[in-house]
Amino acid sequence: MSLLLKLSFCVFFVFHVFGILSAHTTPPSSKWLEPYRITITNREVPQVVVGCDDRGAEVIHPGESVSWKFRMDFYGANKYNCRFYWFEGNNSVTPREETTFPVFDDEIIKLCGRSLFSMNRCYWSITRIGFYFSKIDAGWPNDAWRIMHTWRFE
Ligand SMILES: *[C@@H]1O[C@H](CO)[C@@H](O)[C@H](O)[C@H]1NC(C)=O
Repeated sequence: MSLLLKLSFCVFFVFHVFGILSAHTTPPSSKWLEPYRITITNREVPQVVVGCDDRGAEVIHPGESVSWKFRMDFYGANKYNCRFYWFEGNNSVTPREETTFPVFDDEIIKLCGRSLFSMNRCYWSITRIGFYFSKIDAGWPNDAWRIMHTWRFE
C-alpha cells in the first residue's frame, strides 16, 4: 500500500469509529436515571414539520402535538436538537421559515426539573412568532409560557 492509501484508510477508520461511538450516546441508554417527557404542540402554524436527531420527520397540524419520553443517560449527556419547518399549507413545497435549536439540553433540563422518581416534563408551543416553553401543561394561552426562540431573529 502506498503511504497515501494507508493514510486515507487511517482517516476513514478514525471517522468511522467516531461515528459509531457518537451514535451510541443518543438516548435512551439507561433504565434508571431521570425520566423526561418532551411534548411539542403546534398552536397555529398551518403545518409544521419537525425532525429531532434520530427521531425522523413528523408533521404537526394546529392543535396537534408530538411527544416522546426517554431517560437521562449515564453521563447526563442527552440532547435533542430539532429542525422546524413552517409550511403555509399541506401541499407547500417551500417552507416559509425554518429554524434549528435544542428542545432538550443542559439549559432546558434546568427548566424541566431533575426528579429521579417522577416524570420531568418539558412542554413546547409553536406559534407564528416562535417557540414557547413551560414545565407544566398550562393550556394556551397562559402566562406560564415563556418565549425561548423566534423563527427568524436569533
Ligand atoms: C392539512 O391537513 C390537515 C389534516 O389532514 C387538515 O386538518 C388541515 O386543515 C390542512 N391544512 C390546510 C392548510 O390545508
